[in-house]
Amino acid sequence: MYNWPLKPFILAHRGARSLAPENTLAAFQKAFELGADGFECDVFLSSDGVPVIIHDETLNRTTVGIGTVWDQDSDKLRQLGVPTLEEALDTVPDRGVINIELKGCLPYSPQYLADQVSLLLTAHENRISVIISSFEPELLKVWHDCPIGLLFEADQPIKLPEGLQPDSLNIDHACLAQAPAGFKIVLWTANNLDTARAWLAQGVDGVIAEF
Ligand code: G3P
Ligand code: MG
Repeated sequence: MYNWPLKPFILAHRGARSLAPENTLAAFQKAFELGADGFECDVFLSSDGVPVIIHDETLNRTTVGIGTVWDQDSDKLRQLGVPTLEEALDTVPDRGVINIELKGCLPYSPQYLADQVSLLLTAHENRISVIISSFEPELLKVWHDCPIGLLFEADQPIKLPEGLQPDSLNIDHACLAQAPAGFKIVLWTANNLDTARAWLAQGVDGVIAEF
């Protein structure tokens, strides 16, 4: 069981990606060195069902591999430098925050993805804070033991899907005025730390920023 972070937070978007490749262990470690409260990272499953950290559906942009992430097994992905969620969790210091953005569950089910991620989280309970987020309501509906944030694109109307009661709405700063009351608010993406601090001063619960 995880609870919402105790205080407003600033998270590094895909880690401190100005200093290290995005969504890598080095980028996550550097985020904390630069004073972030935590980091946001993107999760898919490998073909053998291991949660791995990568933003795109394909390997092409961020690795020397090609093809779809979920067609590769975890050994192959490790060789290509794609970290596992298990490794990413180990970079979070005590009282740090990790926002795990669920990108997709293929070739498995939303429940399988939630079970695999939950299993990894049990090792860090009472040590760190965790927020599970997604643009895909179906990936969040199966979660019951972690704060969940529903992501909205900047040009997407903020409308809640049936059967999902998220803790937070994770929205673009430009959409702040349209956000319904009764939810925590996480804003993304501030271009720098000064902007992130200014947004936090507007009274929101968290900001995802470029570091
Ligand atoms: O979680 C905020 C942000 O990361 C969502 O968009 O494409 O950067 O994963 P994207
Ligand atoms: Mg993301």
